[in-house]
Amino acid sequence: MLEEAVFITGAGQRIGLHLAKQFLAQGKFPVVFTYRTRHAAVDELEALGATGIQVDFTEPKAVDEMLALLDIEVSSLRAVIHNASIWANDEMIAKDPSLYAAMFQLHVEVPYRLNLALEPYLKRSRSDLKDIISLSDSSVSGAAGDYVAYLASKAALQVMSRNFAQKFAPDIKVNDIAPGLIMFNEDDSDIYKQNRLERSLMGIEPGPNVVWEAVQYLMSSSYTTGVSLPVDGGLKLV
Ligand SMILES: NC(=O)c1ccc[n+]([C@@H]2O[C@H](COP(=O)([O-])OP(=O)(O)OC[C@H]3O[C@@H](n4cnc5c(N)ncnc54)[C@H](OP(=O)(O)O)[C@@H]3O)[C@@H](O)[C@H]2O)c1
Repeated sequence: MLEEAVFITGAGQRIGLHLAKQFLAQGKFPVVFTYRTRHAAVDELEALGATGIQVDFTEPKAVDEMLALLDIEVSSLRAVIHNASIWANDEMIAKDPSLYAAMFQLHVEVPYRLNLALEPYLKRSRSDLKDIISLSDSSVSGAAGDYVAYLASKAALQVMSRNFAQKFAPDIKVNDIAPGLIMFNEDDSDIYKQNRLERSLMGIEPGPNVVWEAVQYLMSSSYTTGVSLPVDGGLKLV
């Protein structure tokens, strides 16, 4: 059975994958992760010693089945990272209305249910510090007319994080990371890229290591809970 494990949702690619690899390289905690699609990177993580659990969180009973599998492998958790996400704008939802419910499931219902179910695993950790960290979006603090549903679901995630911080204090710290632009998607247009770069003071596409830095800070802090930490290169005041 794994003790003091770090559990990351949606670690088959990009930011979640980077976090999983960094934890494995650090070698302090075993890594348990979920993936939906079996990307080549999933084999890579498993070869490095991580435990992967396949789950599509929009399927009925997915959370219960995933928790049953996790219970076979894990006896205690040092940290839970809610990373899995769907990034859909309102035009995409108009074409596929199921995306609306899927985003609220993934960004609100799944973290809510996992926090309640995984609290005993975190409490069994021998570490003085125990963490739940969610990844929301720094655009929640502004407005973007074409991502109404996505940003509403990420705002709910931030509110939930704050409230779980209160509920689980002082045993478990609960914080949120609110990323701005971290990594472009393959199909982002040049105009979109330019607009996004111009929105931050730093004006760069930093890559996933800045999220790892934030995770490290939150996990090592003995006095930070209930915050949403922007990692967005500084948003320009307009
Ligand atoms: N990238 C950025 O610049 C940026 C900016 C702001 C916020 N964030 C936040 O940071 C986090 C990571 O971002 P990212 O860009 O790495 O995200 P991503 O590439 O979209 O990856 C998200 C992961 O969630 C998984 N997922 C999606 N739907 C799922 C479902 N129904 N059941 C189970 N897993 C599912 C995906 O699985 P599949 O591999 O099967 O698709 C994917 O591996 C997200 O919470 C995101 O909202 C990122």
